[in-house]
Amino acid sequence: MTKEIKENHLFIDGVDTVSLAQKFGTPLYVYSVSEIREECRKIHAAFLDRYPHTRAAYAAKAFCTTAMLRIIEAEGLSLDVVSGGELYTAIQAGFTAEHIEFNGNNKSIEELTEAIDYGVGRIIVDGIQEIGLIRAICQETNQVAKIMLRITPEVSVQTHQFISTGQKDSKFGIPLDEEILFPLIAEVIEAPELDFYGLHFHVGSQLSDNQSHLSATDAALQLVQQIYERFSYWIKELNVGGGFGVRYTDTDVRQPYQFFLDPVMQKINDFYQQHDQERPTIVIEPGRSIVAEAGISLHTIGSIKTLPGIRTYASIDGGMTDNIRPGLYQASYTGILANRASEAATETITISGKACESTDILVKDLALPPVETGDIFATFATGAYGYSMASNYNNLQIPAVVFVEDGQAELAVKRQTYQQMIQNEVIPSFLAK
Ligand code: LLP
Repeated sequence: MTKEIKENHLFIDGVDTVSLAQKFGTPLYVYSVSEIREECRKIHAAFLDRYPHTRAAYAAKAFCTTAMLRIIEAEGLSLDVVSGGELYTAIQAGFTAEHIEFNGNNKSIEELTEAIDYGVGRIIVDGIQEIGLIRAICQETNQVAKIMLRITPEVSVQTHQFISTGQKDSKFGIPLDEEILFPLIAEVIEAPELDFYGLHFHVGSQLSDNQSHLSATDAALQLVQQIYERFSYWIKELNVGGGFGVRYTDTDVRQPYQFFLDPVMQKINDFYQQHDQERPTIVIEPGRSIVAEAGISLHTIGSIKTLPGIRTYASIDGGMTDNIRPGLYQASYTGILANRASEAATETITISGKACESTDILVKDLALPPVETGDIFATFATGAYGYSMASNYNNLQIPAVVFVEDGQAELAVKRQTYQQMIQNEVIPSFLAK
């Protein structure tokens, strides 16, 4: 994303964000398509082009709209979905079935049926019961499902505990207990309705250290060896998940993909060389790192309150309803006044949201120029897990999304209307007036 300041305004990829706020209204998510493409190309350069037999599946949960999935497919990435809704969005975007991988810890029979009928490339099985469901569907419809097993690698992860998933006590994945795992593996190798591809793990999110990926790789390779020893079976694929951290503020360190993936690949290559075996396909599942820094949010400042000797609150026309991350994970963000972008930051302002929650604070104690009602606040790096986690709390509308590329700006999602917000509501007959 090219951020520039011209005539006191913030420009993104040649487009004036203040005019975007005027034209499309606020709150507004603005994405730089060139930045999304750039991130995909970094993955090609750092991983896909350097190592043969690899795939990168974009984790749709970070930001899942039909236009976004079009970019992902055009940039040659696969797609990781976790629900019937994400799968539906992928189907609507025309995403190639074979390039879709279906994750999730509680897939319903309807979701699995739809995925198998659509012909998704992989189903990443999260538990024992799911195997029974998949087998039953395949037996009934005479199909074969390509499956992976998600294991819990039992590693500790340095990130917020709410986004850590690789520890043993987790609702995700199959634990590494012999009596659970090996009968399951025996079953998936033998079942005629299942084509067993291999193993998957995901350790956590927003990581700036590669230790958990490395420890999890060790755990997975140990299991690969055990699978070979017990069943004379070499897995065909290993998925090492996502989790690559981004830079929200100056205090975050964003490591390049190679920092995580080169040592992981080294470990894997060494292992297979020692065993004189061909390495399986290696898959990664990045979400946040592809879209977080490609997106900004625009809000209009309304009420301003100065509490003498305490702080000044400037409230925006959105907040936790379009970015729940500060409230949920104490996530830090930074931003500027898009319409006073070159003015000196002489004040300390807390940007607060509109929702009726004390935790609805977007940025605490930020240095900004003196704010006025009507100013436009731009929050940086809101492209991942912002729109996708938005809610209608307080019946606030889900904002619009604008995509910018080469100086053009167009809607990718229209702002939800009040009418749409209540369109599924019905008044039971016994409440009729
Ligand atoms: N693969 C699996 C199986 C996952 O569970 C996730 C994220 C990813 C890939 C992508 O991880 P990423 O590259 O985006 O870190 N809402 C939280 C993040 C939850 C992540 C859940 N799983 C947040 O806003 O920080």
